[in-house]
Amino acid sequence: MAMIDVHNHILPGVDDGAQDMASALEMARILRAFGFDTIAASPHLGMGPGGDVCPKRAEEVRAELREALEAEGLELKLLPNSEHHVTPELFERMHENKVVGVGGSSKWLLVELPWMPITNVADVLFRIRTKGFKLLLAHPERYKYLTVKEGEALAAQGLRLQLDLGSFVGLYGQGAQQKVLDYMALDLGHVLGTDLHQPEEAKVWLSDAFKMVKTTWGEEVLEMGFSTNPQCLIADEDPDNLVGLRRSM
Ligand SMILES: [Fe+2]
Repeated sequence: MAMIDVHNHILPGVDDGAQDMASALEMARILRAFGFDTIAASPHLGMGPGGDVCPKRAEEVRAELREALEAEGLELKLLPNSEHHVTPELFERMHENKVVGVGGSSKWLLVELPWMPITNVADVLFRIRTKGFKLLLAHPERYKYLTVKEGEALAAQGLRLQLDLGSFVGLYGQGAQQKVLDYMALDLGHVLGTDLHQPEEAKVWLSDAFKMVKTTWGEEVLEMGFSTNPQCLIADEDPDNLVGLRRSM
């Protein structure tokens, strides 16, 4: 199985993720050890708190990391991607073609909502979709103001939901953990992501989270969430082709 991580901050020194090349290489070793062979590195883009990395800068740093990976003999494929912070200003970026689809050439955008409550989530996301994009919503379980019912309504409109692996083991608190379980119970998780920012503590929770998902929902869910559905995104397939994560019968 080709394991793909479509949400992580491995690019060194550009956002609140890996601080330097040594840290990025350590993250790469960890991800490789967990079986990942492709990373669609997703630096923050837009006016959010995590940083604002323009596609050109991301491309430069991706090339530097690719070179370093090769020098270390680490077989990890790097693909273009960004985590787009949703603000009114994102519409200008779309207009100027300064957004990055998952994998580089797809129309799937990984989007992150503001952390402070906004009331018009569905409207804003709908307006982005009218510009011709398909939306993968990053960690819906982590926005305190977004209910599972609202997440369910977004999925019914054709958005697809990316759940953070850390949420399964309470990395972001009990509220996010309960919501991730609720999304899973409704078959509403579509894609899994590590959302890895730093290497050190990840070894512990990544291992626990993989074990938890595997024992609760089975190996197939890991395969759908980290391989089959991410491949659909990269191949620019329609939302209907991304099947909700569920335990196989
Ligand atoms: Fe992220």
